[in-house]
Amino acid sequence: MTDDALVARLRAAGCVFAEDEAAALRSAAGHEDELEPMVTRRIAGEPLEVVIGYAEFAGLRIPAAAGVFVPRVRTQFVAKLAAQFAPPSSIVVDLCCGSGAIAAAVAHARPDLSVWAADIDPMAVALASKALARFGAQALVSDMDAALPASLRGRVAVLASCPPYVPTGEVALMPPEARDHEPLAALDGGADGAAMQARVFEAALRLLTPDGVCIVETSDHLSDATLAAAVVAGLTAHVETDDDIDAVVVVARR
Ligand SMILES: C[S@@+](CC[C@H](N)C(=O)[O-])C[C@H]1O[C@@H](n2cnc3c(N)ncnc32)[C@H](O)[C@@H]1O
Repeated sequence: MTDDALVARLRAAGCVFAEDEAAALRSAAGHEDELEPMVTRRIAGEPLEVVIGYAEFAGLRIPAAAGVFVPRVRTQFVAKLAAQFAPPSSIVVDLCCGSGAIAAAVAHARPDLSVWAADIDPMAVALASKALARFGAQALVSDMDAALPASLRGRVAVLASCPPYVPTGEVALMPPEARDHEPLAALDGGADGAAMQARVFEAALRLLTPDGVCIVETSDHLSDATLAAAVVAGLTAHVETDDDIDAVVVVARR
């Protein structure tokens, strides 16, 4: 298949960045014979990252697989702030870690830190373990912080999280790549979207040092609900944004 033909097929299937996708597919397919099945899967609507087996995140390749949330570019802001806020040689936890993108980016940027990651989904944790292996960081299956070692309580300097935060009624309005290919438990943030964020703030009270920081991803239209969840948990909180990557986070402290 010529490059032009590949780009034309991807564009006809609605891929906006058809040239980039063509290059990624060609490079991931070891051999021309492997390219066609990958293109067929992509045209049928599978996320590009799942087809090629990785997502680009903060300069790293994070493993991707069917049934696990694909990390979004905007989530790099959570990782960037976590790496900035963590004091030297401190502990950072990525709750609801999915494939471990935040934890891996923090561990990569700050080799002095002790980084932990946890997710309720064993498939996500298997990918996160792969992503984190080279950094000597650990990923655990855990409902929020329940299965983290008790020794972490009160000793975590930064709790970073991108939990599910789509209001239940809006999940059906998401693009098909998310709605049809990512698990509901990775998307659904409850009636107002902030239910899982509220659980992260409750975990922050158990985990953080007295001057620790909790960084939680949110969106423009959800940020008031996220702030309210932090305040209900007894934290003080403010919003920070990075307009270049459309990122909105709530930064909360005791
Ligand atoms: C929006 S995805 C984000 C994943 C990852 N942080 C990222 O940015 O790529 C939310 C993740 O929360 C996990 N999750 C949902 N409920 C959870 C719970 N009760 N405890 C821990 N993780 C949970 C899902 O399995 C999913 O991987």
